[in-house]
Formats: sequence, C-alpha cells, structure tokens
Amino acid sequence: MKHQDVIIIGAGAAGLMCAATAGYRGKQVLVLDNAKQAGRKILISGGGRCNFTNQKVEPHQFICANPHFVKSALARYKSSDFIELVERHGVEYHERDHGQLFCNHSAKEIVTMLMTECDWASVNVQLRTEIAKVEKLASGQFKLTTSNGDYSCDSLVIATGGLSMPKLGATPFGYQLAEQFGLKVLPTSAGLVPFTWHAEQKAQFEGLSGIAVPSTITAENGTQFSEALLFTHRGLSGPAVLQISNYWKPGQAIHINLLPNDDAIELMTSALESSPKQSLRNTLSQWLPKRLVEALFGSAQLDKALNQLGHGERDAIAKQLNKWSLVMNGTEGYRTAEVTLGGVDTNELSSKTMEAKQVPGLFFAGEVMDVSGWLGGFNFQWAWSSGVAVGMAV
Ligand code: FDA
Repeated sequence: MKHQDVIIIGAGAAGLMCAATAGYRGKQVLVLDNAKQAGRKILISGGGRCNFTNQKVEPHQFICANPHFVKSALARYKSSDFIELVERHGVEYHERDHGQLFCNHSAKEIVTMLMTECDWASVNVQLRTEIAKVEKLASGQFKLTTSNGDYSCDSLVIATGGLSMPKLGATPFGYQLAEQFGLKVLPTSAGLVPFTWHAEQKAQFEGLSGIAVPSTITAENGTQFSEALLFTHRGLSGPAVLQISNYWKPGQAIHINLLPNDDAIELMTSALESSPKQSLRNTLSQWLPKRLVEALFGSAQLDKALNQLGHGERDAIAKQLNKWSLVMNGTEGYRTAEVTLGGVDTNELSSKTMEAKQVPGLFFAGEVMDVSGWLGGFNFQWAWSSGVAVGMAV
C-alpha cells in the first residue's frame, strides 16, 4: 500500500487548487479522479472562456445554510489573488458586465495553469481511477481501495463537486462518503438552472422562444436580480432566471418586471394623453417585442384603443407589465444546471480549514459542500478559496 501525506479525490477546480497549495507546502500529494481528463467543468465553463472569478466577491453572493461559513476562506484567498495567479501565467482576460472575468482565448488556459501549478508543486495527478472503498484505520490514517491499487494517507480531501451535468461525470460520491463518516448532507437540488413551462403555459408562450428582454425578477423571499430574461421553447432562461433559480422552491411564484426601468401606469397614462386612439397593441409594442405583447394579452383587448379601456383594465395591464407573477412547472434539473444547491452541511466543518469536526483528517473543498454562488464567477472563486483553505490546513 503506497502512503501519501494527502490524497485529494477530484481533479476539478477545487481539487487542483488544493493540491498545488499543499504541494508547495512540501506535502506529498496525490490527486485521484475517475475521469479521463482533469478540470472538465472548467473546460466547458463560460461558453469555453471560463468566467473564472469576479472583480467584486462578497459573502452575500453565496447561498449556504450558514451564511457566515464562506467568510473566512473568501477573505484569505480573494479574487485578486486568483487574478494575480492568472496574470503570472500570462492568461489574457477581459471584464464583462457585473465584474465577471473571462479568458480572452480559452478555458483550457485555466486548466493548463492549474496543472502547471500542480507540476511545479510536485503533485501527482492520476486520472481514470475508480475509488471502490474508503476506510479510516485505527492509526487515524485513511485507506483507499482503488482500481489502480491501494493507498493510505494522513489527510483525505473530498473535492468531487456536485451533481450538475452528470454526462460530464458528476457523481454523488462526496455526499455518500460524508454520510459514511456520519456527516449530515443537506438535501440537494439544481441551481443556476432554467425553468420549464406547465403544459398550458407552453401552449401560450413557446412561440416566444429566442426573445430576450431586460427584466427584474423577484423570488418569494424578496431576492431580486436585474438582468436579461430569455424565452426558450421549454420555459424561461437567461441570466436573471438562472440567478433567481438559486432562491426558488417548487410551487413558489416568481415575479417578473418586464419594464424594469419604468412605471407602467405612468407610461400608459401618458400614452393615453398623447395618443388616446392608439390601439393597446401598438402602444405596448413600443416598449416590448410585439410577439410577447400578443402572447400576454388577448386580441380582444389588444385591438381596443387606449381610450376604450376602462381605468381598472388599464391598471391591471400595467400591473402585469411591472409584476407578471408566474408559477413555473419546475427546472431543467441537473442535466443543464450549473451548480448543485445543498450538499455537505457546513455545520459539520471548520470554516477555517474545512476539516470535518468529528473526523480528524477528513476535508471537503468546493461545490460538494452546501455552498453555491451566484452566476458570474462566484462558484469558481469558492472552488479556489476553499481549495486554498484546505491546502493550507492538510
Ligand atoms: P468539479 O465538478 O469542478 O470537479 C469535481 C471532480 O471530481 C471532477 O473532475 C470529477 O470527475 C471528479 N469526480 C466526481 N465523482 C468522482 C468519483 N466518484 N471518483 C473520482 N472522481 C470523481 N462557475 C463559475 O464560477 N464560472 C463559470 O463560468 C461557470 N460555468 C459553468 C458552466 C457549466 C456548464 C457548468 C456545469 C458549471 C459552471 N460553473 C461555473 C460552475 C463550476 O464549474 C463549479 O462550481 C466548479 O467546477 C466546482 O468545482 P469543484 O472542484 O468543486 O467540482
């Protein structure tokens, strides 16, 4: 049985970051992954350009049952630290809306950078390795039975990510292992994910597929995002929808403001004053795509002139434009979700080291924990920050 100081299961964002950090501290580190390639989610992220962090990262941009948990790791390894690393490796990048940083060329550069760091830190990354069994020995060490032989280690790091995108190799391994060691795992669900229509909504709105409009979307708990809303043939997507999906529970309504910069009652009142004979259809089509207007309101109403609409009718139309409440059927699930909500309960872990309080030597890094970030580079920042926190502690 080969012995290592540290074994990390998962050669993704958090695992590789953790490995390099521990390796530079002189630890003998082995990373095991069942995939053929390291960092597969990094490679497809950000449309192939990897939104690797955000200029402005704050704890409130993360969802966790214990909102204080993320503070320590995020404060000790900041987005500016990762930006410095990226610059040191000559990876060119640019900023998009809301402080999001993307590679100019390819997400591959981030994987190459992490693998180079691992190489410089003398880390051994072993792919195509199935982990059959993990045991804690009386000595306090861990024993791993794998498809490539048996290993023992002093510190075991679980960085196997969440459940999103099973076709990229996502597995519940980390949750099962946590449970094996008696740690609580909070219920998981798909996050940063598009919503799907109910059958009757689909009949009404699927023709809008491809239309994008600015919006403000509010969840039932009051959380709000102002970004683009995209109609798809399956339901609703776009950044505003992905963001709000992190705060949505089945059966809850979402409230969409289709005119986020205007008071629709004021707009309708001034349109009535300036063009009383203009049809409702032509009036609304000045502010929203005509196909959307026609899907939202019936022709009987749209054909009327503004001065033929009753006061209450005009108010109801305006109200719908500023607060269109929808109960969606559900989400597209893990198949298209960018992250997994829930996971290993952070109350089981030290927020400084991510070590299990009841199982010395067992650490968790990245998305496997009950920590999910907003869209915009926050999930990778969590992988980098938590990976470094663990790499410093093992
Ligand atoms: P990650 O999933 O990266 O790595 C887990 C590793 O564990 C994988 O290599 C896997 O093969 C391995 N593994 C799993 N089960 C195993 C087992 N049983 N045995 C051995 N190994 C196992 N975030 C962001 O900030 N900016 C972005 O642009 C994007 N874009 C994006 C696009 C898409 C399509 C997705 C699905 C996700 C994103 N994300 C994102 C989210 C981001 O990819 C995610 O949060 C991080 O990759 C999480 O890093 P981890 O290292 O925790 O898991």
